[in-house]
Amino acid sequence: MKLVIATRNAHKLEEIHAIFDFYNLKVCSAFEHPDVPDVVEDRDTLEGNAIKKAVEIAKATGCWALADDSGLEVDALGGAPGVYSARYAGEQCSYEDNNAKLLEQMKNAPDRSARFRTVIALSDPDGNFKTVSGECAGLIIEDLRGTNGFGYDPLFIPDGYSETFAELSSDIKNRISHRANALARACEDWADTLRKRCQ
Ligand code: IMP
Repeated sequence: MKLVIATRNAHKLEEIHAIFDFYNLKVCSAFEHPDVPDVVEDRDTLEGNAIKKAVEIAKATGCWALADDSGLEVDALGGAPGVYSARYAGEQCSYEDNNAKLLEQMKNAPDRSARFRTVIALSDPDGNFKTVSGECAGLIIEDLRGTNGFGYDPLFIPDGYSETFAELSSDIKNRISHRANALARACEDWADTLRKRCQ
């Protein structure tokens, strides 16, 4: 019985596959289960959304499921956009809309510190779940830079680097990102469970 990754976001899936490959774990995606329902991310915390996605997909597929929910927390904005990162500029907004709104909100803000945070939930087919989280701290810059990655990547420089996530290679991002840190923790804390499901 394989582990289902509860996301239809192709960018995220690519990153998750790359990280799991590193740990030699084989997983499949919700794309391979066309009957899987779309889960509405309506909770007001990253934890709440990650748990909801993992539990609903596990129950719908009868497989163990792993879901992540991530967000960008900007100190000068009191932690916004946080759990609302995907629809910061409105319900049907694009990544470009979100980046434009972030730049506007951060105009003249002296404190540029921010972090990406990911919460990962793992659920068995009965809905029993557990969570881990990971972070990547950095700075929000004043202009878009780079074309790799997705979302807020062109505006975020991780600590210890001078390039944005969108300028860094995917290899580097997959080593240092919030998602990489959370997945590494999941692979370590849940090693026995995952190995049984992902050979
Ligand atoms: P999700 O709900 O986990 O898909 O993430 C919510 C939003 O956070 C995404 O739509 C992106 O705007 C942003 N986000 C999450 N992870 C990343 C990342 O690795 N880079 C840039 N933006 C991200």
